[in-house]
Amino acid sequence: RLDEALAAIAAAETSEALEAQRVAALGKSGWVSALLKTLGQMSPDQRQVEGPRIQGLRTEVSAAIEKRKAAIEAAALEAQLAREVLDLTLPAPQAPKGSIHPVSQVMDELAEIFADMGFSVASGPEIEDDWHNFTALNMPESHPARAMHDTFYFPDQGPVVAGSPTRMLLRTHTSPVQIRSMVEQGAPLRIIAPGRVYRSDSDATHTPMFHQIEGLVIDEGIHLGHLKWTLETFLKAFFETDDIVLRLRPSYFPFTEPSVEVDVGYRLADGGFGGSGDDDGHGWMEVLGSGMVNRRVIEFAGLDPDRWQGFAFGTGVDRLAKLKYGMDDLRAFFDGDVRWLEHYGFDP
Ligand code: PHE
Repeated sequence: RLDEALAAIAAAETSEALEAQRVAALGKSGWVSALLKTLGQMSPDQRQVEGPRIQGLRTEVSAAIEKRKAAIEAAALEAQLAREVLDLTLPAPQAPKGSIHPVSQVMDELAEIFADMGFSVASGPEIEDDWHNFTALNMPESHPARAMHDTFYFPDQGPVVAGSPTRMLLRTHTSPVQIRSMVEQGAPLRIIAPGRVYRSDSDATHTPMFHQIEGLVIDEGIHLGHLKWTLETFLKAFFETDDIVLRLRPSYFPFTEPSVEVDVGYRLADGGFGGSGDDDGHGWMEVLGSGMVNRRVIEFAGLDPDRWQGFAFGTGVDRLAKLKYGMDDLRAFFDGDVRWLEHYGFDP
């Protein structure tokens, strides 16, 4: 009986089959259990002999079952490992790749161009106060230039006080960083300040949030020639061609005097530059505002305007991107349409 049982145990292929063998031998009505029950009817002498023998049977059968159980489990594990093996030669699934937004790309390009000219990058808060955004830039409360900014003010700030440092707004330009940089770093100074700005305005060429880069140089003996050279160098580097000319037009900003608006002209088929009086935007493109820093602004920032002069400029990053890379609607820049991003985005 024992040999038969051991053979059956050894032959069990699955844990279910093995369990059946266990029940047949050691279960309530198994044959080993039946033998154990006979011990009660035996005489003490007989039990002395049969007891150890039957217990031995039980131990032997149990040991055989344990051994077989371990073997079955090991085989199952082997099979699972074989099934779930990783094929390292298979190509890895391609993770979807994002792209650099044209605005980020252009900001990086500009930072690099200006780094080569010795400018460092400065920044200021997007939630700005009235004083830094307007007053210190020579725009007192009654100044008509304020009306042109379509400012987003924060509500519920109590009575509005002109020039109050606690009257908060979303900055309408990056020019307040001029003030912050002069106050914090003093002179001499050579910075650019890229960042988001806000105006309540929206059409194909305006979005309520857009990006500017401010430039500011403060030093002794700075004059309009430095401004012109800097703008020319930067625009040629940015548009990656020497075949452009700048047209400087007299303009007005409260914080610069004199003020200069700059148009870029491309070389035309006839060999000339730009287009006289053409309105299609292809001849001359207005790219930035600039000028010599108004001495009142230098004073507001706590520097001596008899010693320090400077120039400043501000340009729309989104517009520059649009001009260089040829998008037609500015609003699409901020729609987050993945197809647009795939088309106009840059490889990381
Ligand atoms: N801050 C001006 C604007 O937003 C641009 C500018 C900057 C003009 C610096 C002159 C000097 O329109």
